Amino acid sequence: MPTAVSLFSGCGGSDVGLHGAGFEMLLANDISSYARDVYKANLPDTDYALKDIREIKSFPSADLLVGCYPCQGFSVGGVREPERGINYLYREFDRALRAIRPKAFIVENVSGMRRQDVIHLFNNQLKRFQLAGYRVEWRVLDARAFGLPQERTRLFFVGIRSDLGVRYRFPDPTHALPGEEARLAKCPTIRDAIGHLPEWPEDEFDEQPFHWYYMSRNRYRGWDETSKTIVANSRHVGLHPISPPLKRIHTDKWVFENDGPARRLSYREAAGLQGFPTDMVFPDNHLRLKYRVIGNAVPPPLFGAVARAMPAIW
Ligand SMILES: C[S@@+](CC[C@H](N)C(=O)[O-])C[C@H]1O[C@@H](n2cnc3c(N)ncnc32)[C@H](O)[C@@H]1O
Repeated sequence: MPTAVSLFSGCGGSDVGLHGAGFEMLLANDISSYARDVYKANLPDTDYALKDIREIKSFPSADLLVGCYPCQGFSVGGVREPERGINYLYREFDRALRAIRPKAFIVENVSGMRRQDVIHLFNNQLKRFQLAGYRVEWRVLDARAFGLPQERTRLFFVGIRSDLGVRYRFPDPTHALPGEEARLAKCPTIRDAIGHLPEWPEDEFDEQPFHWYYMSRNRYRGWDETSKTIVANSRHVGLHPISPPLKRIHTDKWVFENDGPARRLSYREAAGLQGFPTDMVFPDNHLRLKYRVIGNAVPPPLFGAVARAMPAIW
């Protein structure tokens, strides 16, 4: 079984995907204690270092290193401040890469990393990973093309140690995007993923009022569509399809088409749309934290697909 070390592991979206792809997770790391609790409830055998990555001085050796450093500074939806310190955590990943010298690595981040104002940071990451001795490929992948019922585009870097003499090839899409020729299987819908769950699950969704910011864009998707990106902030999570659709009445102002009952997606529905296994455990009653770790996660099937496409180097 190939071994892996994971950094910025959160609740383990990436690592559940790796585990399913046949990797033994030796070490995970994050600063969020709730993320650790979820991770350990589901992958109990992995050692989890609950601390700032900058405090980790040594790492176990492993075949694969993975890391999904935070993306607030690069994020299309979030704060865009190219000089924020959080944008530089990739240097910590680079430090671990040079210390471990795994056969391969995988990095996931938001596609906003290719934006003009932060492109120098993207280029710096590429350069660093190449100078560390890796042949690096990168690509923006759409989760829907890999069978997830959610619009989520993410950038991946994959590197293979140069002395191994092979290059990584990203996996081909398995599912057709809406509107694409149906040469491939049709992408699943919200109904396919969460249609079996209860309509009004008690204590599982954020019941705060729909404030003006919420109503400044269309948060609605119907049963037979794919969902909007599952975000980490529970107040901004999309509407469940039993809610009335929204109509636009002004620039940045939307209203419900009728006064039927409306609610946000529950944390469990958000997890389903992210492709977490149905038996994934989210312990305790921290509703906002549940949404946060789920929205921050890499969809496990997407990470699994990237890992499974690795050539036979183990
Ligand atoms: C994009 S999320 C990772 C998602 C995770 N890979 C998954 O699939 O569930 C980024 C994570 O980095 C963590 N983080 C932020 N700063 C950190 C630091 N200095 N050291 C360690 N972890 C940090 C955050 O708590 C967050 O869980």
